[in-house]
Amino acid sequence: MGARAFAHRDLIAIGALERHEILYLLDEAEQWVALNRQAKKHVDLLSGLTIINAFFENSTRTLLSFEIAGKRLGADVVNMHAATSSVKKGETLIDTAVTLNAMRADAIVIRHASSGAVGLIASKVDCPVLNAGDGSHEHPTQALLDALALRYKLRERGMAADDFTGLVVTICGDILHSRVARSNILSLTALGASVRVCAPPALMPAGIEALGAQPFTDFDAALAGADVVMMLRLQNERMDGQFIPSPREYRHLYGLTAERLALAGEDAIVMHPGPMNRGVEIDSNVADLAGRSIITAQVEMGVALRMACLDVLTRRTRGVPGWADGEWV
Ligand code: NCD
Repeated sequence: MGARAFAHRDLIAIGALERHEILYLLDEAEQWVALNRQAKKHVDLLSGLTIINAFFENSTRTLLSFEIAGKRLGADVVNMHAATSSVKKGETLIDTAVTLNAMRADAIVIRHASSGAVGLIASKVDCPVLNAGDGSHEHPTQALLDALALRYKLRERGMAADDFTGLVVTICGDILHSRVARSNILSLTALGASVRVCAPPALMPAGIEALGAQPFTDFDAALAGADVVMMLRLQNERMDGQFIPSPREYRHLYGLTAERLALAGEDAIVMHPGPMNRGVEIDSNVADLAGRSIITAQVEMGVALRMACLDVLTRRTRGVPGWADGEWV
């Protein structure tokens, strides 16, 4: 058979995807955006299928978003929280994976604090695995939903929205520990955008240029002429030691205030994956800025985008014509 529109069994990393595959998932998500805006938001596409959300790390929006996405497509969705699971009793990751596999899930969504853990589990199970965030490695559905939210906003402004060529995106925050930054750099550059990353020197990973981003330590300089400003939280739970002098000093140098936003391009779009620390990396009057902030649209797009991913990744299991045979990449 010819090349599939999406040639992978799993969704582990944006780094593994081709540009056309990213665009395919975004295109597929649009029908779910439309469905989710109706009063009755349910289809039977995945009825009879079981999806396990295995979250070894805390989450509010990502877990809820995946749960709602699976349920709206008609699947049976089960959530496993690490805090109440056998992980706390010392079970190894491999044993947990083998256990999940024996339950014959049709897709497993995993969040884990260790980079690479989701890929490891994927290698031990027979069904599609979706990475809901692994350590500071990747968070592919977040980057895809961010691109989808950006696409809708640009379209609303009457701009060409499928290709981000010429768009300047500044990502500011704890770049070192952020899987959101890494996945977004990869997806935004694949879609044609120029990506600037800004962080205090201690929170800037060495060699970030290799991913295609331009590093800055001066936030004002990073903002000049930016079309999109994406703010990230300080990932204190991943910090071993002190990386910033104080939250007050951090806000002073790297917080997005209304005055600072004025340094970016006219009408620059404001984004944040959440959870936000208002008054630290972003001020409330910026986070809630009508017409400019798309932070709640990001959450809305998350459900639709995850519905698209669950649909596409279970097509082989469901025997959808054109998706049932052959090997996966
Ligand atoms: C992010 C995450 O978990 O990586 N949150 C999310 O999924 N929306 C960002 C964060 O925790 O700061």
